[in-house]
Amino acid sequence: MLPPGTFDGKVIAVTGGGTGLGKAMALEFARLGGKIAILSRGEEHRRKGVAAIEAEGGQAAGFEVDVRKAEVVAQAFDAIEAELGAVDVLINNAAGNFACPAEDLSANAWATVVDIVLNGTFNCSREFGRRRIGSGRGGAILNIGAAYAWTGGPGAAHSASAKAGVTNLSRSLAVEWAPVDIRVNTLVPGPFPHDDFPPALQGHMTGSRGGARLPAQRVGETHELGWAATYLCSPYAAFVTGLTFVIDGGHCLRPGLAAPEFVPVREQLKAGPFKG
Ligand code: COA
Repeated sequence: MLPPGTFDGKVIAVTGGGTGLGKAMALEFARLGGKIAILSRGEEHRRKGVAAIEAEGGQAAGFEVDVRKAEVVAQAFDAIEAELGAVDVLINNAAGNFACPAEDLSANAWATVVDIVLNGTFNCSREFGRRRIGSGRGGAILNIGAAYAWTGGPGAAHSASAKAGVTNLSRSLAVEWAPVDIRVNTLVPGPFPHDDFPPALQGHMTGSRGGARLPAQRVGETHELGWAATYLCSPYAAFVTGLTFVIDGGHCLRPGLAAPEFVPVREQLKAGPFKG
């Protein structure tokens, strides 16, 4: 979509960039000339992401990071700078999620998802912001949101709350950092099936693989998500910040006149009776 070479010489850090939508977005940045830093906990994931980019003729390197640990994030940024150069664009894609009724969530389950999604996004953004402000250079951050950030949703108390925090954080950072030319936007993907989706959530996605359940009559192609991500982080979006960009074929607007029968979350998840 963008001219070849749009990201020539730029370093793009993608958390969770070794698999799924993170990998898909990383690929589009690489096709436009960006050097990609794949940040992930898992060696196998990092290897997969780097291999996918190299197979397309791009440049990438993997860096071990758990976004929950601020000091590890700082070390990863040091390592990226040493190997690829200073990070110009940060994609906060790493997430943790599993569908679970709220009453079944342990305190640690809740905290784990909030820690990865919200605290992890903050840790990486703060590290990026400090370095960019310190060097007097602007940059772009793209946070990955979710449509249930503004509605909530069954089985998603932990994740929806964390994503709501991410959407809000994006706006706060956008206005704080606009004077130093760091743009911060949120990208909200609808159904984009891919092979790395966790098995527990795969059914939900494959159920709409044919697209009949979506207003657009189809699901998304992962490169379309990459097009949106690259645009929002490119110089062509230089005046765009604080935006929540939804790309879902109208999916989040679909509630219509006919209200389908309500199915409680325990039934939807076949969770059985609450045991206390
Ligand atoms: N239902 C209920 N609780 C669950 C759960 C599930 N399906 N999966 C994990 N948990 C709970 C664990 O039981 C644990 O709580 P406990 O100590 O009270 O038992 C807590 O969550 C943390 O789990 P753990 O596996 O130790 O954490 P982790 O840091 O290794 O993994 C997860 C983080 C749980 C988010 C894991 O699913 C993950 O790494 N996901 C990454 C990929 C992903 O989710 N992508 C989806 C993006 S949309």
